[in-house]
Amino acid sequence: MEYKDLIEKAIEAREKAYCPYSNFKVGAAALFEDGTIYTGCNIENASFGGTNCAERTAIFKGVSEGNKTLKALALIGDTKTYTYPCGICRQVISEFVENKDTAIILVKNKDEYMIKTFEEILPGAFTKKDLEN
Ligand code: THU
Repeated sequence: MEYKDLIEKAIEAREKAYCPYSNFKVGAAALFEDGTIYTGCNIENASFGGTNCAERTAIFKGVSEGNKTLKALALIGDTKTYTYPCGICRQVISEFVENKDTAIILVKNKDEYMIKTFEEILPGAFTKKDLEN
């Protein structure tokens, strides 16, 4: 699978970040089952708890357009190192991820990225299956 497009879209989305409090820009791009890529940035709030992360912005955009299955997600922060999804975002990713091997792509720049599986970033996730017992 070629992730070039997804990576470029995450980098572009980062420019839209609304982060006057942290000044930490984050961009994400989520590929869904209909083949559409939804992008997202972090959106902060004066009441800090109202902040939404870039990954959740992208995922919620896709789901609110009728998608349910996340095929891959790319994420870029604002440092020289890789930015991993926060704990809340990992849990939200777990709700829609296609399977445990779905690619979570951590991006440093367009040429440097690291592909993790969902299971690697959230082993033993609590999901709706756990509620069925
Ligand atoms: N942030 C994200 O957008 N995604 C993450 O997974 C980590 C944190 C944002 C939230 C906040 O706007 C800023 O980064 C600093 O925490």
